[in-house]
Amino acid sequence: MGKLTPREDGAPWRNFYGRRRGKTLRKGQKSLLEERLEALSVPGLAWAENPERRLIDFRALEPGCVEAWLEVGFGGGEHLLAMARANPSALLLGCEPFRNGVAMCLAALEASPLQNVRVHEGDAREVFDVAPDAAFSRIFVNYPDPWPKKRHHRRRFIGPETLPHLARIAAPGARLHVATDIPDYVRHVLEAMRAAPEFRWTAEGPEDWRRPWADWPGTRYEAKALAEGRPPHYLTFVRV
Ligand SMILES: C[S@@+](CC[C@H](N)C(=O)[O-])C[C@H]1O[C@@H](n2cnc3c(N)ncnc32)[C@H](O)[C@@H]1O
Repeated sequence: MGKLTPREDGAPWRNFYGRRRGKTLRKGQKSLLEERLEALSVPGLAWAENPERRLIDFRALEPGCVEAWLEVGFGGGEHLLAMARANPSALLLGCEPFRNGVAMCLAALEASPLQNVRVHEGDAREVFDVAPDAAFSRIFVNYPDPWPKKRHHRRRFIGPETLPHLARIAAPGARLHVATDIPDYVRHVLEAMRAAPEFRWTAEGPEDWRRPWADWPGTRYEAKALAEGRPPHYLTFVRV
């Protein structure tokens, strides 16, 4: 993760091990991606549009938004859209490289439009290149891919390569939320965080990581984990 050698188009190369494509998209999903994704994307976030990596003021993307929140890996977008609906003064930027998930999110937005959502079909690490310092006041990493094998732990989103970037783009007092059903991922995150003094774990007792956040709408992956008997853990870190 984070290996920076140039790609053919000059963009920094980052290894990505997740899935970008799933089942064949239905015709309606394809047209949504063709017709709606561009309007919901952030101009300049894609490398080709902004190779000089000009910084982007995410808050200013939508009039009336006074802060920006980032969601890494929104899946089908259920949490992203619920948070955007409940918080009209926050601009919600969701990143998801899995095209089928993006298509689901676009379909939900089509049925119930929201002004304060932007969608990046791609790796959330691309945001690091163009986000100013202190750009986001909440960052959500909900059920990151677990990569259970030890030799794959380097692929986990939270780790020594992403944390300095997350610390830079998190505003003072910002909250970084990590939800996971994998106890080993909890250990992994807490260990990585010990080397990141910019973040403080807010938990004072087990209830703090067993109980969902007050405004938590749940996610599709979480519903599956619960149905399969894997209890969630909710970790909150504050940018000090
Ligand atoms: C286990 S799924 C969870 C999806 C959703 N958050 C939920 O809880 O239902 C993890 C998601 O993270 C996405 N993902 C993995 N690496 C990512 C990255 N570098 N940037 C953005 N999303 C990423 C995957 O494509 C996948 O959809």
